[in-house]
Amino acid sequence: MDILSHDVLIIGGGGAGLRAAIAVAETNPKLSIAVISKVYPMRSHTVSAEGGAAAVIKPNDSLDYHAYDTISGGDWMCDQDAVEAFVKEAPQEMLQLEHWGCPWSRQEDGKIAVRPFGGMKIERTWFAADKTGFHMLHALFQTTLKYDPIQRYDEWFVTKLLVDDGRCQGVVAIELATGKIQAIAAKAVIICTGGCGRVFPFTTNANIKNGDGMALAYRAGVPLKDMEFVQYHPTGLPFTGILITEAARSEGGWMLNKDGYRYLQDYNLGKPEPKPVLRSMELGPRDRLSQAFVKEMEKGRTLKGPYGDYVHLDIRHLGEKVINTKLPFVRELCLKYENIDPIKEMIPVRPVVHYMMGGVHTDIRGATPLKGLYAAGEVACVSINGANRLGSNSLTELLVFGARAGKAAAHFAADQKAPNPAIAALALDETERIERQFLWKKGGTERIAVLRKEMHQAMEEGAGIYRNRASLQKSAEIIRNLQERFSDLAITDQSFTFNTEITAAMELSYMLDVAEAIIQSALQRTESRGSHQRTDHPQRNDQNFLAHSLAYRNESGPPRMEYLPVTITRWPPGERVYGR
Ligand code: FUM
Repeated sequence: MDILSHDVLIIGGGGAGLRAAIAVAETNPKLSIAVISKVYPMRSHTVSAEGGAAAVIKPNDSLDYHAYDTISGGDWMCDQDAVEAFVKEAPQEMLQLEHWGCPWSRQEDGKIAVRPFGGMKIERTWFAADKTGFHMLHALFQTTLKYDPIQRYDEWFVTKLLVDDGRCQGVVAIELATGKIQAIAAKAVIICTGGCGRVFPFTTNANIKNGDGMALAYRAGVPLKDMEFVQYHPTGLPFTGILITEAARSEGGWMLNKDGYRYLQDYNLGKPEPKPVLRSMELGPRDRLSQAFVKEMEKGRTLKGPYGDYVHLDIRHLGEKVINTKLPFVRELCLKYENIDPIKEMIPVRPVVHYMMGGVHTDIRGATPLKGLYAAGEVACVSINGANRLGSNSLTELLVFGARAGKAAAHFAADQKAPNPAIAALALDETERIERQFLWKKGGTERIAVLRKEMHQAMEEGAGIYRNRASLQKSAEIIRNLQERFSDLAITDQSFTFNTEITAAMELSYMLDVAEAIIQSALQRTESRGSHQRTDHPQRNDQNFLAHSLAYRNESGPPRMEYLPVTITRWPPGERVYGR
């Protein structure tokens, strides 16, 4: 088998992957760099980020305020050394991005404009109207084009990490246009594949977010950390799950129940004000807002629609000018996907899965416990997001930790010998597995869509906004059963060119692994914290659970769990208080 070779290989061409690639190129111009992505980089999910990216810029803000908001928002599950590094490096990364071409929105006086986001003491969310992800990704993408050592493998699907001698030494991937299975050796690999929202039925996440990178690392023996913490965003469109950005509330939008009442005032989130008030009501943290929706539903105060219960987001009072200048994308999405004009009509919204606080276990440099393997962005858990991420921290996170992982991988790769020839045999085994399981597969009775739908239902019903032992156990059994049924999957398309049936099958198998890690981590955490709310254990329990969960894959059953203490530097655990 012919093997291609690079010094550093980055899986994923979104914000974290491109930032990491630039960091590798800047750290050591002699290294050859591969960016391999199952989609063209500008189609990565970063492109759809809307509201903004947080970093201290205003004179009345401080790094300590940003750190505290992040830590209390995360219900004290964040590693505070990582948060301190994050808030310190964030402003520099944001300015750097402007120099690379990101058109940050401005105030009248020309200074950077910032908006408040949920759970913040002071406004610090930089934005480019409500298309922040698009502009950030564009700036990063065009910057990578300056660096000759960066070679792209667009529309290649990674199936396995090659691990030999306790070190990650490359990948096996399928070139989607031809179906060719190819080994690519590397001295260091960085996973930047984003999250796994597609494990759930209603999500803001693109179809590509199937937990690929999480499953690749997990299968290579790397633990997944804090997987029980799944973030629901309170305002997704009911059917498509499309995000209606928090910026709509930051500009002054109201959440109304079926009686037209601003119901968040009933949930310890402050009193109604004519203008948005920081850390209050509609600008409370996402976990609390999503939980309030469920309570409203239980009280019978939500509206009923074909895709379940919903409430209204009302931005009509902001007026046409504000909507068209600050929220043009919100208007466009509502017109295109709901056939409503938010200048005149209220927007139907419901909580939808948005973000994974958990992910591949890394240290503060992005290194995983497997030598030669790094991770950054949503796929990774550093952890700066704890039990509930604050809106707009993730775009900045992918810059700060993409750069950190790139630098660390570059230093590591420079000291390594060429990958072992033994990886050729591993790559051959993987080729045979793909052929046996998918390409040449005969027979089978199960269908991808059926298994995926059952997985979605099990996750929503058993591991949603509120969970308990019984619901999680039931879902665990269903997912285990789906794992078994997966081996009887029928593959009807055995063509080589853009075989989307085979990639969908592989994505499903990644999702089932990740789903099992989410459920088992949630089962074992018998407390409530941030986005993880156990109705049978409603209190936070710092005595037993001020610790990260680590889920290790187990071939024949649920993952094995271990725990790691949370790093506390300057902010001892306290109560989360919002509203005023
Ligand atoms: O609502 C939003 O614009 C989402 C931002 C985020 O998740 O950081």
